[in-house]
Amino acid sequence: MPAIANPSLLILHHHHHLHLHLRPRRFATGLLPQTLLSLLSSSIRAPTLRPHSTSSSAQTQPLSTDNARTGRSGSISSPPVQPDIAQKIDINPPKGTRDFPPEDMRLRNWLFNNFKEVSQLYGFEEVDFPVLESEALFIRKAGEEIREQLYCFEDRGNRRVALRPELTPSLARLVIQKGKSLPLPLKWFAVGQCWRYERMTRGRRREHYQWNMDIIGVPDVTAEAELISSIVTFFKRIGITASDVGFKVSSRKVLQEVLRGYSVPDHLFGRVCVIIDKMEKIPIDDIKKELRSAELSEEVIEELLQVLSVKSLEKLEEKLGTVGEALVDLKQLFSLAEKYGYADWIQFDASVVRGLAYYTGIVFEGFDREGKLRAICGGGRYDHLLSTFGGDDIPACGFGFGDAVIVELLKEKGLLPELSPQVENIVCSLDQDLRGAAAAVARILRQRGQSVDLVLENKPLKWVFKRAARINAQRLILVGSAEWQKGMVGVKILTSGEQYEVKVDELE
Ligand code: HAM
Repeated sequence: MPAIANPSLLILHHHHHLHLHLRPRRFATGLLPQTLLSLLSSSIRAPTLRPHSTSSSAQTQPLSTDNARTGRSGSISSPPVQPDIAQKIDINPPKGTRDFPPEDMRLRNWLFNNFKEVSQLYGFEEVDFPVLESEALFIRKAGEEIREQLYCFEDRGNRRVALRPELTPSLARLVIQKGKSLPLPLKWFAVGQCWRYERMTRGRRREHYQWNMDIIGVPDVTAEAELISSIVTFFKRIGITASDVGFKVSSRKVLQEVLRGYSVPDHLFGRVCVIIDKMEKIPIDDIKKELRSAELSEEVIEELLQVLSVKSLEKLEEKLGTVGEALVDLKQLFSLAEKYGYADWIQFDASVVRGLAYYTGIVFEGFDREGKLRAICGGGRYDHLLSTFGGDDIPACGFGFGDAVIVELLKEKGLLPELSPQVENIVCSLDQDLRGAAAAVARILRQRGQSVDLVLENKPLKWVFKRAARINAQRLILVGSAEWQKGMVGVKILTSGEQYEVKVDELE
């Protein structure tokens, strides 16, 4: 607390706790000119930064428990109500979806800002698409899980529409729509909400946000190398290291070469990949059954399963020989990874195929090395997606990175950032008659680009200090009548305790 030179101030100071329980306007008149300073000398300390609250955070709670807690179905099926009687609504968001109260929104903004800053660091431009699309955009015949999870319905104009489960088909649609006017290659990124009617597990929900980066128009694996580099940069920025996560990388061309070796028709390729992607989720006998129903012979199935167990490029070379595109691509990618400096983040794993039908080449997924969580992100090359929508094919690759698993991982590692509300000034008048003056002070500060939380009611000073601490205000500005008559206000720097009076036009 600053030293008090004036004895009259000292008296005020001693009694300040008494004053603090009074409404400010009660002592706004008739006090000594030093009133403001003495009030500011309140023993209530400068605010300390509060850690980000995890307990109240819906985002950081496993969603699967959300609804169990509330018994929501009971509250919906209450008896029919009279129109004039208030109906008790379910106050929880629909199952699998989230509200974002301020503490969760701070975390979300922090995460998205990192997504965006990394994308911009790599020279990508931001795009967006509607959350609602034609259902047809998402219908593929390969038996993908994503199709079963589609939120689809008929709108009032009898159109079949769907909430997007991913961003890639919309991106493809836009690329076709823009056609030749687009200067290739495109480097686009987006952060958007996606909807999937999922069985909920840790990090999987019915609504999630996905960060996507896509490169359209580059046939070479230099594109995949650049994309993986950007994800590594992102991880590093938020404190995740190569000992926390890694990327499993493969190429669907590995499977394609095997299938072609056995003269399996190309149109079965996507379907086979989608079946194989389920290997970790369903028993191997069921996988075999599904592969048989896709008309694969026992011999092909055995060969596929063997190839899928390969975990090194040397072994793969023994199996496939040196000539195939799969090996050439993979070798080039691993050699580029050395040059980029992220070789220790990636490993070859033939069992990675990803669950979407449209991937054609390199595929990859980010995983946590402790093996506790589902894929953190996933992506790959999709050189033929455009032609499935009637456009001309353009080589393309990209990835999707959800906002859910990464938060779980940050929690696991104790890396969740401490984010608190931030406002530069809290401005308060000591007298009801001075509310206009306080508003004028707030206006001046805001015009100078300073954020201001203006106290809009008459509140005890104690309340104002508490609020200042909660919102992490750096400065308290008090508008009292004696000072205001001189064109001055009282200022307390809440971080240091320093306090003074200053002319309003000299406020910075
Ligand atoms: P995906 O593998 O289906 O790929 O999803 C990508 C990422 O989105 C997942 O790794 C995960 O982080 C997140 N994600 C997916 N579903 C959920 C969910 N239900 N809850 C929470 N997070 C989820 C795609 O969607 C591709 N379109 C990515 C892509 C872009 N490929 C090329 N460009």
